[in-house]
Amino acid sequence: MLNAAQSPLYRDLERILLTREQIRRRIDEIGEALTRDFQGKDLVCVCILKGAAPFFSDMIRAIDLPLRVDFMSISSYGSATKSSGVVRILKDLDRDIVGQHVLIIEDIVDSGLTLSFLKQNLLARGAASLSVCTLLDKPGRRKVALTPDYCGFEIEDAFVVGYGLDYAERYRNLPDIGVLKPEVYTS
Ligand code: IMP
Ligand code: MG
Repeated sequence: MLNAAQSPLYRDLERILLTREQIRRRIDEIGEALTRDFQGKDLVCVCILKGAAPFFSDMIRAIDLPLRVDFMSISSYGSATKSSGVVRILKDLDRDIVGQHVLIIEDIVDSGLTLSFLKQNLLARGAASLSVCTLLDKPGRRKVALTPDYCGFEIEDAFVVGYGLDYAERYRNLPDIGVLKPEVYTS
């Protein structure tokens, strides 16, 4: 695993916001809640690629239920640091979700535009219920009303990378989450 003190990737960070240990502990707590809440239900966990992949793989292993997994890849038009809400599906679910309890697992909710599109899209396919589990939430930046059902951490309005989150497709492999130095994305 990358060492924060030695890895050159960490030099672009202003500071570390959440360590791998903090993330792991929070995932265990959310896993207990999900195990309780979805007891006896047909649960499908949907990973929103690519950002949610590390969180998804840790999160599903903390849920003690016979769940199924599926993957969706979406691209939201906009700049590198802001989404526009116009969402295109690059890879759709493999199986239909009629009558299933669907849990969307996402990396971060910012404006809320991406997730409100996804929620409407998946509910229209006949899911029995639709819930959202996000690792991070920036409630201060919401443009549409959206409250995640499960949230790892509410964070300030700063651009963060690591543990799946990228800037221009980089930094996804950092095991911790950090605030990127503004000069990295303004230069
Ligand atoms: P929303 O549609 O504005 O809620 O944006 C959600 C998407 O924007 C996320 O899935 C991320 O891909 C991206 N995003 C928002 N904030 C950040 C951030 O701080 N770091 C990296 N990606 C972010
Ligand atoms: Mg994303």
